[in-house]
Amino acid sequence: MQRYFILISIILSCVSTITDISSSSTPTCGYCPSSYCPVKSQPCSSNSDCECLLMAMTGGGMCADTVISCQSLSPCGNDNQTCSSPDTVCVNNSRCGVPICFPISRASSDRCPSLSSRVSITTSAWCYTGVMNNPRSMHTSLVLTSGKVLVVGGFGSQNTSELYDSSLGSWMTTGRLNIGRYYQTAVVLRNGKVLVAGGYTFDSSSAINSTELYDPSTGLWTVTGSLSYARYGYTGTLLSDGKVLVTGGYGNSYLSTAETYNPSTGV
Ligand SMILES: *[C@@H]1O[C@H](CO)[C@@H](O)[C@H](O)[C@H]1NC(C)=O
Ligand SMILES: *[C@@H]1O[C@H](CO)[C@@H](O)[C@H](O)[C@H]1NC(C)=O
Ligand SMILES: *[C@@H]1O[C@H](CO)[C@@H](O)[C@H](O)[C@H]1NC(C)=O
Ligand SMILES: *[C@@H]1O[C@H](CO)[C@@H](O)[C@H](O)[C@H]1NC(C)=O
Repeated sequence: MQRYFILISIILSCVSTITDISSSSTPTCGYCPSSYCPVKSQPCSSNSDCECLLMAMTGGGMCADTVISCQSLSPCGNDNQTCSSPDTVCVNNSRCGVPICFPISRASSDRCPSLSSRVSITTSAWCYTGVMNNPRSMHTSLVLTSGKVLVVGGFGSQNTSELYDSSLGSWMTTGRLNIGRYYQTAVVLRNGKVLVAGGYTFDSSSAINSTELYDPSTGLWTVTGSLSYARYGYTGTLLSDGKVLVTGGYGNSYLSTAETYNPSTGV
């Protein structure tokens, strides 16, 4: 009975300890007000047509309206994890037998409203969300105009970048950097592209002057004008005229130099 009580307390409390993380294979507390849900056979929405589907890539749950025929859904790629069709996510516990690409639109909070208990419990707590595809530190993270979050590079996964969809709590790999880096600076430009500049790279074990632009519409990184000084651990700021100001950092020594990047000329 006491054991039962403790279990209930853990479930009701959204604050989890390190021990909870290691003892639980489900990376969520289950009471967070989003379409991300614990993958168990319990309701995830006040709409009983909605079920918790397991996202093959992240291992997280997606609360989605499942009243749709399997014939109208396409199977996931050969890796059983990815989908080539846009706005779908590969789920692997549907009644369709094989991993299938499920339309993200069916996981909206309009279709699958959170259970009211989930909304009321968690105003100030931390909730688990999807796990990134790659571990990283000393990386950069910023919000794109689409609302998705782009994380770039970092020690451990220096040439990778990925996108976070906060409505699903899931991560998707996006373009590879031409030069892997950490301790870099990243700024969202006025045109929606992302400028990543400088940083430190394993490839040459040095600070770099290389800069790249990320285009959210293609998911690709392209090289653009180099910094005058190789630097890492510095600041980058979008100015009101749309240029980017970078200041200081470390090259061969601490730097006091500053320079600006003009997106319209690429230098
Ligand atoms: C579904 O995907 C998860 C996460 O990748 C994986 O752990 C699990 O084994 C998969 N299940 C099946 C039935 O393929
Ligand atoms: C994908 O899933 C199918 C059946 O669900 C299985 O036969 C195949 O081996 C899996 N492929 C991989 C790469 O896991
Ligand atoms: C990405 O980085 C890893 C580890 O440093 C390296 O093995 C790999 O070749 C790099 N890939 C590309 C495309 O640069
Ligand atoms: C950038 O660094 C590379 C390699 O160290 C160097 O060859 C190149 O001249 C530098 N470019 C600028 C604009 O300083």
